[in-house]
Amino acid sequence: MRAHEAGWAHAAVSVRGPAWLREPADANALVPQLWSTTAIKVDGVLEVGGVPVTELVREHGSPAYVLDEADFRARAAAFRTAFADYDVYYAGKAFLCTTVARWIVEEGLFLDVCSGGELAVAIRAQVPPGRIGFHGNNKTAGELSQAVELGVGRIIVDSFHEIERLAQITRELGRTARVLIRVTAGVEAHTHEYIATAHEDQKFGFSISDGAALEAARKINEVPGLVLLGLHSHIGSQIFESAGFEVAARRVLALHAQISDEVGVVMPEMDLGGGFGIAYTTQDDPSDPAQLAIELTKIVTEECKARELAVPRLSIEPGRAIVGPAMCTVYEVGTVKAVELDGGAVRTYVSVDGGMSDNIRTALYDADYSATLANRHSDAPALLSRVVGKHCEAGDIVVKDEFLPGDLLPGDLLAVPGTGAYCRSMASNYNHAARPPVVVVKDGGSRVVVRRETIDDLLRLDVDAASGVED
Ligand code: LLP
Repeated sequence: MRAHEAGWAHAAVSVRGPAWLREPADANALVPQLWSTTAIKVDGVLEVGGVPVTELVREHGSPAYVLDEADFRARAAAFRTAFADYDVYYAGKAFLCTTVARWIVEEGLFLDVCSGGELAVAIRAQVPPGRIGFHGNNKTAGELSQAVELGVGRIIVDSFHEIERLAQITRELGRTARVLIRVTAGVEAHTHEYIATAHEDQKFGFSISDGAALEAARKINEVPGLVLLGLHSHIGSQIFESAGFEVAARRVLALHAQISDEVGVVMPEMDLGGGFGIAYTTQDDPSDPAQLAIELTKIVTEECKARELAVPRLSIEPGRAIVGPAMCTVYEVGTVKAVELDGGAVRTYVSVDGGMSDNIRTALYDADYSATLANRHSDAPALLSRVVGKHCEAGDIVVKDEFLPGDLLPGDLLAVPGTGAYCRSMASNYNHAARPPVVVVKDGGSRVVVRRETIDDLLRLDVDAASGVED
């Protein structure tokens, strides 16, 4: 516990934050690895893409997601270059709009979608269908028909029902579909329980250990309209160590060899999935794409050599690692409260004008984020603070613990880095909140690529709302 002397919470004893959180020497300073590459502070004002966030908020309002185009493109290009012999699929579920889909194509990447809605965005953005991979554990017959008709490059099949559905669709349409089999390799990635997907007790994929994946290969091989490209394994999200990929790759390659021997199909491809971790706070230390490429390639080539297998064409599916650090969210502070805890400690609650409707990850996954004062420099000593939203729920927390200047006031701006992945894409209208815009910044200019919702947007689906309108 520490005493803080300044600001409105003078003499309060602050609660101790998590063990990993250190009080910074200067709470105004950015921690560079958490921010997009163009983010800097000028006289205490955060600038991204050459645009001060004060200006962004004046022009576009608050809260707003700020997307650094140069940073996004650089991260996409870094994967493309580091994984030069792979096909790199950007996982659109992390964040997708037509602008981003176009950038992905321009940077030479492929695109992963996992619903008819994401597919519609990709098509509207004129992503060539052959560059699209289609995922999902319960794709509807309609979604599958559309994918086959469009000629999407690959469909990742996830169940025996889906194989039957695809067999019927390809027969009826007189078309073929190129498929991969989503397998569960029995690896539990060291990550939050909800987002670890390769262990057995979950809904995705065919189990390798109980023989379902082998059986799926047999079934697919019997359908004239289906071309079996390979196996697909995604072991989870926000993964920092290659050990999980290593165990999974070994099991998947064993199956790859078994399918060749027992089904007689030499599959040309293999997908290792996504899940590469990013730095949300100082406790995270992610690998860069070059390092990841070296590690993954080594794992697969050594295993193939040991099994005397030709190395299949590999693909990966990073989402978070491309868009996560490229975006931050800017909020306006509305209230600041000192809340006395047991033992006389005080926690500083800073309420902002958004919350769990624009970033559900803290509430849902107990995720950690950081924040910085974005509109001015402050000389006040830092207080351990909690940034909360404006929703009617006690769990509506944006940043659980952060040292923020002790003189925060209503009207100040706070920026939270690393909100590019799974924040806008999982945003909701809880409490009829209007979802914030996505504003792209680049070379000193800004433009809205996803606009802010309006009250009219919110009422548009409310069928009886029109009768309440007075002329
Ligand atoms: N490929 C497949 C088959 C996936 O299921 C996913 C993520 C990815 C690639 C991309 O994973 P990434 O590189 O973005 O970690 N909403 C959670 C994450 C759910 C991930 C679902 N699948 C979160 O906010 O952490």
